[in-house]
Amino acid sequence: MAIHEEVKKRKTFAIISHPDAGKTTMTEKLLLYGNLIRSAGTVKGKKSGKFATSDWMEIEKQRGISVTSSVMNFFYEGYHVNILDTPGHEDFSEDTYRTLTAVDSVVMIIDSTKGIEPQTIKLFKVCRMRGIPIFTFINKLDREGKEPLELLEEIEQVLEIETYPMNWPVGMGKQFLGIFDRYGKQFVKHHTNEEETYIPYAELDNVEHKELTRNPTYEAAKDELELVAEAGDQFSLDAIMKGEQTPVFFGSALAPFGVELFFNTFISMAPTPTPRKTTEGIVQPDHEDFSGFIFKIQANMNPAHRDRIAFLRVCSGKFERGMSVKLSRTGKIFKLSQSQQMVASTRETVEEAYAGDIIGIYDPNAYQIGDTLIAGKETIEYDELPVFPPELFKKVAAKNVMKSKQFRKGIEQLVQEGAIQLFRDRLTDSFILGAVGELQYDVFKYRMQNEYNAEVLFESIGERIPRWLKEDQVDESLFDSGNLLVKDRHGNPLVLFRNEFSLNWFQDKNPKIELIDLLS
Ligand code: G4P
Repeated sequence: MAIHEEVKKRKTFAIISHPDAGKTTMTEKLLLYGNLIRSAGTVKGKKSGKFATSDWMEIEKQRGISVTSSVMNFFYEGYHVNILDTPGHEDFSEDTYRTLTAVDSVVMIIDSTKGIEPQTIKLFKVCRMRGIPIFTFINKLDREGKEPLELLEEIEQVLEIETYPMNWPVGMGKQFLGIFDRYGKQFVKHHTNEEETYIPYAELDNVEHKELTRNPTYEAAKDELELVAEAGDQFSLDAIMKGEQTPVFFGSALAPFGVELFFNTFISMAPTPTPRKTTEGIVQPDHEDFSGFIFKIQANMNPAHRDRIAFLRVCSGKFERGMSVKLSRTGKIFKLSQSQQMVASTRETVEEAYAGDIIGIYDPNAYQIGDTLIAGKETIEYDELPVFPPELFKKVAAKNVMKSKQFRKGIEQLVQEGAIQLFRDRLTDSFILGAVGELQYDVFKYRMQNEYNAEVLFESIGERIPRWLKEDQVDESLFDSGNLLVKDRHGNPLVLFRNEFSLNWFQDKNPKIELIDLLS
């Protein structure tokens, strides 16, 4: 089949949410539709107590979590679906952010009883920065939650994005009767035995639906919907594709209700792989030459062999197992003979892949995060992966001063690999590490000890707000020891503010100093 035809079938997305909003439950339901699992409850080892096969990192086994984001793929309605997991909780790390560079759209799950929560805001900002289309699923409608209008307003105000409700719930909790499917012009009636009946709008006035349509809950929801239709934003596919409007769906991943309706609409509307920017201009996904970039490296999967797996997003052409590719950064040629795709928690060898697919390739210790691999004659490089602002900072030193050589080598390599970020105190030159999540420190410590034989000591600086400065605006006298002045590994100056208050206070006192936030 022509490359073009294959690309048109790919839908690659990530699900983002705050912990406990229902990401796992939703993923399980989607895998069920894709017939990948027989019963829900097998996606994560965490809850069911089943662990993924033994080649995961030791630390992962100890904690019973999946350290790095994994990828699942299945066929649905003629589409080749790739879902990238974005870990939350204590496994939240820079990998979670980087995953978002490898997808074409995102599903944002919001718990209707809680509304927008902090982790959703963080992940949303990354999507916004990259202009990724965002589809919203408001979950847990089987419980008493916030009013739908209130939730839409919250999304618009907190996330500053237009909303367009694709459907409208009738009641919630015990009063939940079903949803108006505005897109399909039908009412989806909820039955207590988890069944759904689809009633076209034109048939709702029929006498057999009298019991439903005369219910006050139904009437109230209908009035609300009319209000939304009059006062709300107009549906705009263009705005959705630019990430300026989010289509909103209501339902319950657990019940389940509204999930299939959501997924069918999402799959037909979500973008297929889009052209991507490179140093040599835009590359089309159906361009015949293979190319892709590495967005994650999972090290030490098998401690005996120290092997590493690099996760590659295919961006153009056709990947074939055994093919030779060039690493754009160095010009070196590699043969890709070991390639894997993940299906739930198992790995399978992948023989071919197209734009939108994510494959795991064996890394002979040569790749870096952000690297481009190509098969064509022209050397191109995909846009450098953005640096994400860390939030947790720790001073780090070698436990044994005799091992400082190993310590420096370890830090240098792990930082280069993107496992953690390194900063230096401008005054003392001491090492300061920055991470998005605590897990990155655990992995760092473990790998320093196991791979570089260097035990490390941490001294926590705590949560900080980093803001970059222009070199000519650096005035050391302005910063007290509370708001640390440091430099990043490229020598750029930045301040680690203690909290929002110190940041605002500083900015008020020094309005001329431009403080740069990487996420805006
Ligand atoms: P996460 O991956 O986003 O962290 O969330 P997860 O799916 O694990 O869901 C968190 C909790 O919310 C789970 O309950 C899950 O059963 C529940 N949940 C998910 N979707 C819905 C929904 O639509 N309605 C209701 N009422 N609950 C929902 P738990 O008690 O923490 O875990 P478990 O013991 O049920 O597995």
